[in-house]
Amino acid sequence: MQDYQYRVIAPGRVNLLGEHVDYCNGPVLPAAIDKSMKVDFSPRDDGLVTIKARDLNEEVCFSLTELSDKTACTGEPLPSWALYPAGVAAVLQQHGLLISGMDAQFTSDIPIGAGLSSSAALEVAFAYAFQTLAEWELDLMTLSQYCQQAENEYVGMNCGLMDQFASAHGVEDHALYFKINELKWEPVPLPESVAIIIADSKVPHSLTESAYNERRTATEKAVRLLQAELPNITALVDVTPVDFEAHKHLLPASIAQRAQHVVYECDRMNQAIVALKENNVKRFGELMFATHASLRDLYEVSVPEIDLLVEIARSLPGIYGARITGGGFGGCTVNLVAVEEAEAFAAELKKQYDAKSPYETDVYISKASQGVHLA
Ligand code: GLA
Repeated sequence: MQDYQYRVIAPGRVNLLGEHVDYCNGPVLPAAIDKSMKVDFSPRDDGLVTIKARDLNEEVCFSLTELSDKTACTGEPLPSWALYPAGVAAVLQQHGLLISGMDAQFTSDIPIGAGLSSSAALEVAFAYAFQTLAEWELDLMTLSQYCQQAENEYVGMNCGLMDQFASAHGVEDHALYFKINELKWEPVPLPESVAIIIADSKVPHSLTESAYNERRTATEKAVRLLQAELPNITALVDVTPVDFEAHKHLLPASIAQRAQHVVYECDRMNQAIVALKENNVKRFGELMFATHASLRDLYEVSVPEIDLLVEIARSLPGIYGARITGGGFGGCTVNLVAVEEAEAFAAELKKQYDAKSPYETDVYISKASQGVHLA
């Protein structure tokens, strides 16, 4: 087995509140989780990058001088997972940063495509690995932004900044309150009385990327139309619920529905952060349930199995709040549960979901964790 000089660890994330608002410059509250991407790497001096995807049993080689082709050394198109590290390399170069080749391998316990940001973790881990071998150092916010740019421009997923931010900035036992419009954030301690429980619906994603990009386009269109009467807004975060109600007649019904979710989700986030800082877990949980209803009915990013997980959770002892987390169209729910009920809750949620759905859920009692770092 090959020895590597370094290991970088970049966590996945769960989002507690502020969903589908990051690309509208709205505030979010993710936490890095104790599931992560581990990348082992050593430098090489010929400008080639070799990567072994250990969990997939695949291997790729690409050249740092031919990144725009998105092809491997063999001339074949890069496999989809390799677009993330290659995209990060391309963006770093685009910003004038010199990077060297490397031999790398990675393995991860973040379930893939489950809405826990395995792709952002892969990007952040590789950005950090390239930086470790180079003579420059980026602040973590810039590093997150470059990773987002790689995903937007190289991979073609028009995501916001939340996932890369969370994987880079995670703080143990804290949620991360990130005001994207100011690029400012603060760690907020999670109350010791609650556990964060993640349940994976195991529903296979389909059309996630196109549906996601379509939601984002609808919110951008809403801004352009609302600007006719609200010329000072630049993103939906600038629209208060009162303004929205007064001007929503400018929007076609389908766009109004999407914009309504975003406007009220930003408002919920503002209420939730006050509740969390006051240790009012009950209020925070109510807002989570309200967010779920909005994502289900207005934003239409839920699926029946996820709704089932939320409804089962609602009926169990110790529950404060449950909702879909991440981009949606499958994936996971996040549940806020009284610590003393956590084990029983996890077992019962699994028992009931597995009996009522065609899938078998994995339920994790999660711990907020440190962001990207060298092991
Ligand atoms: C995905 C994206 C994020 C964010 C969430 C929804 O995880 O990568 O930028 O938009 O969906 O909140």
